[in-house]
Amino acid sequence: MPRESSARPDPTIMVIFGIGGDLTWRKLYPALYNLALDDQLPDRFAVVGLDKKHFSTEDLRARLRDGVERFSRRKGIQEDVWTELTRHLEFLPGDFADPQTYNALRERLEQIEKDWGDVRANRIFYLAVPPSVVEPIALGLGAACLASDRQRARIVVEKPYGHDLESARYLNNMLRKIFEESQIYRIDHYLGKDTVQNILVFRFANALFEPIWNRHYIDHVQITVAEQLGVEHRGAYYEKAGALRDMIPNHLMQILSLVAMEPPVSFDADEIRNKKIDVLRAVRPIAAKEVHRFAVRGQYGSGWIRGEKVPAYRAEPGIAPDSNTETYVALKLFVDNWRWQDVPFYMRTGKRLAVRASEVVIQFRPVPHNAFPSELALAWQPNRIAIQIQPQEAIFVRFQAKQPGLTTRLAPVDLRFDYREAFRTQPPEAYETLLLDVMEGDATLFMRQDQVEIVWSIVTPILEAWEAAPPIDFPNYQAGSWGPEAAEVLIAQDGRSWIHPVPLAEDDSNGETSTEE
Ligand code: BG6
Repeated sequence: MPRESSARPDPTIMVIFGIGGDLTWRKLYPALYNLALDDQLPDRFAVVGLDKKHFSTEDLRARLRDGVERFSRRKGIQEDVWTELTRHLEFLPGDFADPQTYNALRERLEQIEKDWGDVRANRIFYLAVPPSVVEPIALGLGAACLASDRQRARIVVEKPYGHDLESARYLNNMLRKIFEESQIYRIDHYLGKDTVQNILVFRFANALFEPIWNRHYIDHVQITVAEQLGVEHRGAYYEKAGALRDMIPNHLMQILSLVAMEPPVSFDADEIRNKKIDVLRAVRPIAAKEVHRFAVRGQYGSGWIRGEKVPAYRAEPGIAPDSNTETYVALKLFVDNWRWQDVPFYMRTGKRLAVRASEVVIQFRPVPHNAFPSELALAWQPNRIAIQIQPQEAIFVRFQAKQPGLTTRLAPVDLRFDYREAFRTQPPEAYETLLLDVMEGDATLFMRQDQVEIVWSIVTPILEAWEAAPPIDFPNYQAGSWGPEAAEVLIAQDGRSWIHPVPLAEDDSNGETSTEE
């Protein structure tokens, strides 16, 4: 994971399938532009785009420029950087299912390498396309011998990786017939976030926290990824996915494994991924008949977000009026190992919730003996560490302090570290980090085949139980609330409650980050 030098990657040609799509427009090209601004792109760098829709180079440049203007984290386009970046952008027409497309692509790549003085460039095949065309593209690349350079040919695949364990296995097997595992980069953009990577630094570059990071001191862990956005224009995808598939086997499981993993021996890609997999393998399976005790689902009704009336999920465009797709999930999981035995990990994620916030809370146990009379403690609380991933990027450590005064009175206070205040710099977007990693051939922040299959094996019993018993109470939470009543019950039955992230007053982003069509 750690980028040690600022040396630029080797010559690279990035082939984007779906260059005209939403992901390229919102995320990929703005990320490339920011890398260009930071002078991080290889000296020799080109983008060849393919799409089911035909574009002239001029139209493509105009569309991508519009995306950069809207979504780049740095506002205002720097013309010289833009001109240089788009000088090496071209569109290659062709049908994804036609073998000729891949022959033409191979010839084009060879020509570019020749023009660069016969260099052998990295060839990155980025699949910014719906899951249905992943297979024909991979087969096309394989048949045209575009996958055979094990060092330089890399394929980047976006989530979802299948829709259950069986389909994820199918996808992995199909890809593995064409590419080596080391050539496959399965993206989970949460891993590209600085604040997510910082979980490892916080835990393993400090002596302070690790000795108490276990069942002897920690009462429970909460992981919240709350969104205010609704389903937006993604009805076709979301109706088939739902909140569980969309968020849990990827983003929330990644966070869980970083919070719970054992210390790595090194920051080598496979070492980190092995340690994460150990955690996932230790997650206690949930039996079908027990699902109701460990998992809650919800769907939003109409309500108010930021002072505006918003429609119910069932009234959103592209959504069936009687849809049973869940837009909220809460889970209680256990990690059965020496460190975490019997410590619950509560996770929740949902759309149209009260605030946009991603946060991990480590709730410590109470002190073993309270020597202070209880009337001295105003609002006594056990210690807590809150790792705020977004939109606030901060870490809080809560402890008790003596209130100023002649008498002894206790009150909880927070030590706070804020990224932007401490470093006075803007963190890169997740896709900037991840694209640079692919160019450098560093797979630490990408999901390995076995990890994908393990997370699906954790969630598939829940999916099956839910499919077998459709919900009878949807919609069961109001837009702008903290989710369904049943989620409160899930945690309350253990004598605990959800710790809601506090909204950031000045956050006016609505978190538009969706990637699938
Ligand atoms: C995507 C999901 O992977 O992550 C979306 O498909 C979700 O439904 C998005 O909105 C959240 O990403 P972020 O970076 O805004 O937390």
